[in-house]
Amino acid sequence: MADEPGQPPALTTLSLAEQAPSSHAAEQRITPFDVSGGVDETGKLLPVDYNKLIQQFGATPISPTLLERFEKVTGKKPHRFLRRGIVFSHRDLEKILDRHEKGQPFYLYTGRGPSSGSLHVGHAIPFEFTKWLQDVFDVPLIIMLTDDEKYMHTPKLEISDSKRFTIENAKDIIGIGFDPAKTFIFSDFDYVSGAFYENICRMAKRITINSVRATFGFNDSNNVGEFHFCATQSATSFATSFPHIFGSDPLKTRSIPCLIPCAIDQDPYFRQCREHAEKMKYKKPSLIHSIFLPALQGPGSKMSASIDISAIFLTDTPNQIKNKINKYAFSGGQDTAEKQRELGGRTKDDVAFQYLTFFLEDDNELEQIRHAYEKGEMLTGELKGICIKYLQEYVAGFQERRKKVTEEMRREFMAVRGLTWGGNPNPVPT
Ligand code: TYM
Ligand code: TRP
Repeated sequence: MADEPGQPPALTTLSLAEQAPSSHAAEQRITPFDVSGGVDETGKLLPVDYNKLIQQFGATPISPTLLERFEKVTGKKPHRFLRRGIVFSHRDLEKILDRHEKGQPFYLYTGRGPSSGSLHVGHAIPFEFTKWLQDVFDVPLIIMLTDDEKYMHTPKLEISDSKRFTIENAKDIIGIGFDPAKTFIFSDFDYVSGAFYENICRMAKRITINSVRATFGFNDSNNVGEFHFCATQSATSFATSFPHIFGSDPLKTRSIPCLIPCAIDQDPYFRQCREHAEKMKYKKPSLIHSIFLPALQGPGSKMSASIDISAIFLTDTPNQIKNKINKYAFSGGQDTAEKQRELGGRTKDDVAFQYLTFFLEDDNELEQIRHAYEKGEMLTGELKGICIKYLQEYVAGFQERRKKVTEEMRREFMAVRGLTWGGNPNPVPT
């Protein structure tokens, strides 16, 4: 079952390393804007310690007992991300399982900050998982594209760039395979108004500058938009923000909670949200967190959409994937074939092996590879070859679906309209 939360990745530790003189260690730091494992006394970059992180955040590890309950309630074998500790922590997931058991309504909510024209395979992780949850639970899904957040946060980005990325990113997200009857995708620039804006203001009124500063590490030089945006991302957690989906009687809809799948970097937003939700007479959102897909360079670097060689993009060709893995994927193998045969490779440090834990479905095959590599029966070149094959397969499958996504389909997903789910054409009448 789930072993140690997987390999750490995405580290923007350079700034930390610069700040810390070699004799001083720096603590790890994870916010939506900064993912750093920290540095030790010698200045060495450290991987993210996920167990420590969830303790700091006050989230709960997903236990084998909870997974058993998940399987019992849904009748589905847990997704490989759950089996392998890639989706590793949660807040109030039991409450969602209780509701599903009783047939009570809830919805799924996730999002993306459109900072680049194409998603990388790391971004695909929470979306793949969300699609699986949508199939398992048969509930509405709301996907927020925070073009305002990225505009406010990125000095050189114009609103027009941000809107262009939104359109392209929406098509990538649709290419993951969501069901249009059950999915509403929106852009903040387009959708912030009416009931949603009222919830944003209710939330903004409660969030203090002090708490945002502490939660996100902002200081007096951050712009007011960045401070305020916290309320916007939070307000999507309330069903009353979507009267076209859940009906317009707040007395009926305010008790409908959501489950938010995301990587653990987004948790700070929802800690804020959960603190205030009940005072606003809403339910706290539940969360289910994943670790990060490691960057090609492994611990000590960050898979970043702006650094081409750190990431595999969903637009990469089979050849680009092959070259990037062969050239850049950090290896946990030994320096020579002889040493590898004698000592074996370290799967925990090996980026190609880590990628297989995310993308290879077959548990037995993965265990065989782990065993062969650790025993020195398999060399790094061979392991990379297997990783290349599965990543090429995943990206090609995505590209096939993405090709079929038309502008008309995008408009349909993003239209303000009713959704249908649960086998009922109008489950929540207005
Ligand atoms: P963004 O665009 O930074 O990231 C989108 C989603 O991808 C996750 N993610 C990763 N997951 C695994 N491995 C990685 N290397 C990796 N990099 C990013 C993020 O955690 C996120 O789930 N403010 C948000 C947009 C947003 C949102 C939400 C996200 C609005 N509402 C609700 C999740 C849930 C953002 O900029 O995400
Ligand atoms: N209540 C509105 C209606 O009946 C909106 C609506 C349509 C709706 N389809 C829905 C609401 C499905 C929830 C679910 O037209």
